[in-house]
Amino acid sequence: MSRIAYVNGQYVRHADAAVHVEDRGYQFADGVYEVCEVWNGNLVDVPRHLDRLGRSLSELRIDWPMARSAVNFVLHQVVRRNRVRDGLVYIQVTRGVSRRDHFFPPEGVAPSIVVTARASSAAAAAAQAEEGIAVVSYPENRWPRVDIKTVALLPNVLAKQNARENGGKEAWYVDADGFVTEGGSTNAWIVTKEGVLVTRPAEDRILRGITRAVVLEIIKKEGLTFEERPFSLEEAFNAKEAFVTAATTVVMPVTRLDGKMIGNGHPGSVASRLRELFHTATDLRVV
Ligand code: PDD
Repeated sequence: MSRIAYVNGQYVRHADAAVHVEDRGYQFADGVYEVCEVWNGNLVDVPRHLDRLGRSLSELRIDWPMARSAVNFVLHQVVRRNRVRDGLVYIQVTRGVSRRDHFFPPEGVAPSIVVTARASSAAAAAAQAEEGIAVVSYPENRWPRVDIKTVALLPNVLAKQNARENGGKEAWYVDADGFVTEGGSTNAWIVTKEGVLVTRPAEDRILRGITRAVVLEIIKKEGLTFEERPFSLEEAFNAKEAFVTAATTVVMPVTRLDGKMIGNGHPGSVASRLRELFHTATDLRVV
């Protein structure tokens, strides 16, 4: 079966899917995106992802490419047409196609929309979570508006590649004061020796992760102790546990930071429990 993508109103073979060379996303990274998890035949937390997409669009003054309900429909269609049971669906909206010029395009240029989906192995993800991942710190070098989920991800690409070249799967950005902001494509958490969960406040130079928000709801429901405050790299080295959250990883234990073991070097019980509980707290829509 060949993969299918949605591009500006049409379902096309993934291999043939293309946007114009003068798409603003291509030339200026003038666009935004979302990634939703597909889990066990369900789309996960789509209403929240569409809320955040709407916010990103409005912050950049890009119009919805079509009604929100139509976007929702296309997300489901693309997942269904690709027969994805576990994996992800990606949506990208840019300011559209126009002669290269830094100024916004003239009135009437429609935003571009692309939706793709791909399957991934739930078993491989579970095995990774059993093992945990290594992260590598990296100086924060992004613009301050990381709350907008733009496709301008070059700093994230470089930070993550650096992590890979140093034996890690994720980068942790560290600000000028020595505090962790977030991962290259995840939010960052620790569990202190006292058992307190700590994550940076959503308004403080991080992406307002949907997975992060769901995990906070679980934490409150379970009556666990948590603090929303910045934590330093130093504090992370001394933590009992660490983990990251994102639609692509759900809750993923971190077992090494800059080559040093976190806790006993194995996934912690808090992270593992949150991972187990995660889908009981999400909004699931059957595809
Ligand atoms: N990334 N922080 C950053 C910088 C991210 O790029 C992401 C998501 C997150 C987690 O957000 P959420 O829980 O809503 O997925 C935090 C997506 C998955 C990506 O770029 O692939």
